[in-house]
Amino acid sequence: MQTVNVNLKDRAYDIVVGQNILKSLGRKLKTLDVGQNVVVVTHPIIKKYHGKALSQGLKEHGYTVKFIEVPSGEESKSAEVAFDVIGKIVSYSANKNLTILAFGGGVVGDLAGFIAATYRRGVPYIQVPTTFLAQVDSAIGGKTAIDLPVGKNLIGVFYQPKAVWSDVCALTTLDKRQIKNGLAEAIKYGVICDRSLFQYIETNYKKLLGLDPKALTEVIVSCSRIKAKIVMTDELETKNVRTILNFGHTVGHAIESANKYKNYHHGEAVALGMRAANHIAIKLGLLKKSQAQRINALLSCVGLPEKIKYVTLPQIMHHMLHDKKFKGKKNKFVLATDIGSVKVVESVDNRVIRSAIRGVKQST
Ligand SMILES: NC(=O)c1ccc[n+]([C@@H]2O[C@H](COP(=O)([O-])OP(=O)(O)OC[C@H]3O[C@@H](n4cnc5c(N)ncnc54)[C@H](O)[C@@H]3O)[C@@H](O)[C@H]2O)c1
Ligand SMILES: [Zn+2]
Repeated sequence: MQTVNVNLKDRAYDIVVGQNILKSLGRKLKTLDVGQNVVVVTHPIIKKYHGKALSQGLKEHGYTVKFIEVPSGEESKSAEVAFDVIGKIVSYSANKNLTILAFGGGVVGDLAGFIAATYRRGVPYIQVPTTFLAQVDSAIGGKTAIDLPVGKNLIGVFYQPKAVWSDVCALTTLDKRQIKNGLAEAIKYGVICDRSLFQYIETNYKKLLGLDPKALTEVIVSCSRIKAKIVMTDELETKNVRTILNFGHTVGHAIESANKYKNYHHGEAVALGMRAANHIAIKLGLLKKSQAQRINALLSCVGLPEKIKYVTLPQIMHHMLHDKKFKGKKNKFVLATDIGSVKVVESVDNRVIRSAIRGVKQST
């Protein structure tokens, strides 16, 4: 078991990473100021594979456990589902002695976190991430949200969990595409600030794809450290520090939204966005071609997409220019200057962006 502390004073918490640790969560909860009535928000498939290990461990420590299942998929990050879950929580626990557990990937994490933040003006919650992407990224940092029909993550709040409990063994039931999805974010961390993490993934990507628990733990702990550090410096994303986590996301989000979140998983779109950002960085003289090729080669090795399909260049540009973050403002790109360092660049010429996207559409 390895622990990374997110030191946010009265909102400080531990990220714990280990093998077969679901059953030990009860012991951890005993050390925290959380309620006895545990509500586990999850998907049916996760309950089926891992529910027993989690609930037995909690019950052994005197907690009562109630599972509330929501369907898999982004559609569950909606006001309807949030209100439905809250209704079930109300009828389960009229008293206040409540703890919410987000037991799933980023969808459950964002949804359950949002419910925890708003129900009774905030109840304690624990992130128990079960996807690689959630363990390296979304479960850490306290961003919670639900979607509106007009856009993703439009209703949300920063609300830190009391702990993040990452069991690498929970990843064994995940499909391979989801591992690649998480690897995109892990590679992102390497490029933005940790050259040795990047090198580790280069050397060990086969082990990671083969779900080697030691290799997974190494990467999850490294990513957790990086995200913790960034969140500790810029908890509410007001200091332009958290921004660097958006490497690959400017174009990545535009691809996802132009494609109506259909064909690409988040990490896959981000991988294409990283390739586009590398084109821009070369064009602006910030990044050597050889370094860009090395990043792109690793994305290819892990099996992330190389070419933008399904959406046209005008569609991507339209969605990027209408991104809520840029409306009426200058565009902003996180660009690599080397493997392990990035620069935030504003007002990139649209012609340079177009040419970069065209480059990724045509790459082989
Ligand atoms: N809050 C943040 O900081 C943050 C950061 C990045 C992404 N996100 C959000 O995260 C979401 C995407 O999260 P995701 O990629 O984890 O996808 P997800 O939560 O939809 O999970 C992917 C799929 O894997 C299944 N699954 C989960 N764990 C499993 C397991 N152990 N075994 C078998 N199947 C399992 C789920 O049922 C689902 O079908 C998006 O909504 C995105 O907006 C949030
Ligand atoms: Zn992301």
